[in-house]
Amino acid sequence: MSEGSRIPGFYKLGLAERRAVVSGRAQVDLAELEHALEAGGLDTATADKVVENVLGIYGLPFGVALNVRVNNTDRLVPMVVEEPSVIAAASNAARMIRQSGGFRAEVVESLMIGQVQITDVEHPADAVARLEAATPRLLELATKAVPNLIARGGGPRAIDVRDLGQRCIVLHVLVDCRDAMGANLVNTIAEALGPITAEIAGGTLGLRILSNLCDRRRVHATCRVHARELVSSPRSSKSADRADSGDELDGLEVVDAIVSASRFAELDPYRAATHNKGIMNGIDAVVLATGNDFRAVEAGAHAYAARSGRYAPLAVWRRDGEDLVGQLELPLSLGIVGGTLRVHPTARLALKILGVSSADELAMIAASVGLASNLSALRALATEGIQRGHMSLHARSVASAAGALGDEVELIAARIAGEGLITVEAAERALAQLRLSR
Ligand code: MEV
Repeated sequence: MSEGSRIPGFYKLGLAERRAVVSGRAQVDLAELEHALEAGGLDTATADKVVENVLGIYGLPFGVALNVRVNNTDRLVPMVVEEPSVIAAASNAARMIRQSGGFRAEVVESLMIGQVQITDVEHPADAVARLEAATPRLLELATKAVPNLIARGGGPRAIDVRDLGQRCIVLHVLVDCRDAMGANLVNTIAEALGPITAEIAGGTLGLRILSNLCDRRRVHATCRVHARELVSSPRSSKSADRADSGDELDGLEVVDAIVSASRFAELDPYRAATHNKGIMNGIDAVVLATGNDFRAVEAGAHAYAARSGRYAPLAVWRRDGEDLVGQLELPLSLGIVGGTLRVHPTARLALKILGVSSADELAMIAASVGLASNLSALRALATEGIQRGHMSLHARSVASAAGALGDEVELIAARIAGEGLITVEAAERALAQLRLSR
């Protein structure tokens, strides 16, 4: 990604032009890019080998977030999502954030957890002690189960044993999966350790499976935005009384309003769930584009959000002088090898466009986009409300649904959004009028 991720006016280009620009910026062959994006990249014959009872392919839009700069490196970030405004919102927030240098991100640890459950344990405390003492033997066995991972520099790193009560104990094996998401590797290890674990514990072997609460594979992202970047239009609810006078909402007021929105999420799980949904809008779209397991990511994120016993926001925002500072942390197990990537050319294309060379890099970018999505949502909510921006973008898909083609889509979308009546019927009426007038 040599020339950066800032492409002013990108959204105004036609689809073919956008592809050409991205091919140039990301140094991906245009023919390869076009092939990978045609019909979603997956043909029915391949799909038939991926899952069961296949009837066809289900398409989703593949777009790219602009302006994203993570640890001083610019990235064009592929996103797959059906919700209008998610990509625009992430790009817009990333543009504000890059004025202060972009995102800082790090992977806190990179270990997946495999669980082996043992039930009917006579003396759990003794069993835990025996398993802890057997750590070298268990790690050796685990190592033998994944020779390819060992060859790539990964492998089992540690054993943890806990007494869960009710004569049930659980053994955790912590595995460095390198650039794989790791589900198959961890499950293989957990199954290899099962019988010996039960024997040493003197109990009955139960489940052997990874944990999606992969809190030993966390990513932390932070960003800073100056108040001047956040200046809002006069339609703000807070400044509603000033709207008539046409005043702008002051940047520092927006900072304070976003901090107050963050505190709302910190105080109230009902709000925290929606706040986190806004974060996952960005993260899931990157996870999907890169062929990763979004259900695993979602399970981990929400379990982590509830780790204190009370569901909490994954990202919080505070004021620092004239800056707004955001911090996000969540477990994120992503891969850049194996899984869907073997069969899905569009997922491989997404990784090429990103230009990532490790799963950790991908996790840092995904988390940064999550933080950008969160900022964008909070800024809109804390000022003018979410609906105006949302509905004007939603109007485009309504216009398409009404049969608008080519430049008709923007014209009809602008008309129905301007009239404040964003329905297929209104779009059909507007389309009929437009065609008559042409
Ligand atoms: C909508 O997809 C996401 C938001 O609800 C997030 C939020 O409320 O913070 C706008």
